[in-house]
Amino acid sequence: MFGISPVVLITGASSGIGRALALRLAQNGARLAIVARRAELLAEVASEIEATGGTAIPLVCDVTKPDQFEAAVAETIARFGELHVLVNNAGRGNNAYIHDTPNNQLESIFRVNVFSLWYGTAAALRHMIPLGRGQIINVASVAGKIGFPGNAAYVAAKHATVGFTRALRAELAGTGVIATTIIAAGTLTDWATVAEGGPMLELFNYERERGGELAEQMGRTLPPAIPLLTADCVASEIANAIGNPAPELYTHPGLRDWVLEYETNQESAEQKLEPFWLANREGYERGTGG
Ligand SMILES: NC(=O)c1ccc[n+]([C@@H]2O[C@H](COP(=O)([O-])OP(=O)(O)OC[C@H]3O[C@@H](n4cnc5c(N)ncnc54)[C@H](OP(=O)(O)O)[C@@H]3O)[C@@H](O)[C@H]2O)c1
Repeated sequence: MFGISPVVLITGASSGIGRALALRLAQNGARLAIVARRAELLAEVASEIEATGGTAIPLVCDVTKPDQFEAAVAETIARFGELHVLVNNAGRGNNAYIHDTPNNQLESIFRVNVFSLWYGTAAALRHMIPLGRGQIINVASVAGKIGFPGNAAYVAAKHATVGFTRALRAELAGTGVIATTIIAAGTLTDWATVAEGGPMLELFNYERERGGELAEQMGRTLPPAIPLLTADCVASEIANAIGNPAPELYTHPGLRDWVLEYETNQESAEQKLEPFWLANREGYERGTGG
């Protein structure tokens, strides 16, 4: 659809999934613009790509600032002549129950996970729609499909990512531009450690262990076990989304079936999750940190 060396702009490419995706796409011949705030890390990713014969321009940019994101899109088009794919991957979690969430945390979680999609997508579409081709890939999460406790701002923001991409697909009908939502789950990156409000790993571990005990005591069926994947495994799934007209792509085995079960019979799916929610609240109230 975009030839053998598509031009791809990836946000959040300084670490985790975005970094792994940049390395993988560069190996496949894509020409890349890589975006994040940490200039040093971004320069390292660009050097790694250049050292193996690939092409990547590092663009230091805070995606929550519309002027900076628009400038990054414009710079990509100026350098490569076209932008084929925008991957909105930059994102951040949060760690706070709703009654404890400061307003500024709620706002910043929406700024990075939702508003940024709007800024980058609008800038890319002004270029893609007249050309009649292009793709917007938005990295959402299982938290955009299922409710989880302890990070409702993030859960709501990722549900908004799913909704935004659905509306985007409706607006793009007949334009030749496609849009894709990526539904990812647990991935070994810095995500849980750099969450706003504090790290979440210890609480997740507590929830898993104590939740399992409670499920047994309560005689509840366990929810499906979704494996924790490396960033590279997830990146390889996202790479398969390029040029693929499917609306949603699930990166983890078993994830789509779990979401379908939740959407088809939320009450019964919640019964399976409840012991883990009780454990989460218990851990949170004890101040189990990272
Ligand atoms: N890890 C998981 O378990 C998991 C599961 C489902 C979905 N996801 C989603 O996957 C995406 C990637 O996360 P990850 O796991 O790879 O986490 P990560 O390693 O923490 O990477 C997040 C990336 O986003 C960038 N970023 C954050 N705020 C930014 C801003 N204002 N402007 C520009 N870049 C910004 C960071 O770069 P700088 O700090 O250098 O700006 C970093 O490169 C996120 O959307 C996340 O919500 C992750």
